[in-house]
Amino acid sequence: MPSTKIILTAETVPHVALDFMNNTHFEELDMVQSLGELITHYQQGDNDALTQALNAWLKHTQAHFSRENELMIDIQFPMYLVHSGEHSRVLEEMESMVTSWNNDHDIEMLSDYVFTAWPQWFEQHVNSMDMVTAQFALMHGYTQDLK
Ligand SMILES: [Fe+2]
Ligand SMILES: [Fe+2]
Repeated sequence: MPSTKIILTAETVPHVALDFMNNTHFEELDMVQSLGELITHYQQGDNDALTQALNAWLKHTQAHFSRENELMIDIQFPMYLVHSGEHSRVLEEMESMVTSWNNDHDIEMLSDYVFTAWPQWFEQHVNSMDMVTAQFALMHGYTQDLK
């Protein structure tokens, strides 16, 4: 187990100016929390539940990122390439982590990612790029009721 175990929740994660983005983040944190419980109670050879939870998380992340990418295009966000590039990078990282899990079932590797690397990235990403994107959208007349 890694020494730094970070559990983000709806209360502790930074909130941005658009509700639909926050709701997606909260959903994702719920999924990661369930994933964390499966990792903590993992018994060698018992891989199915974890594999399913990982695939569901990956799918949710894909939808999360493409929805934000669409928003950035809608509002002509000037740092679109930086923010969407970060989404692509992290999605690739998650995909290779899931592939590696499917091949090796290395619980330590998975545990490091889910309890340390990912939450560090997520908190920092929400607090910077998501925050600025949501603020920009509001300042440029984006109405969340219409979406
Ligand atoms: Fe986000
Ligand atoms: Fe984002």
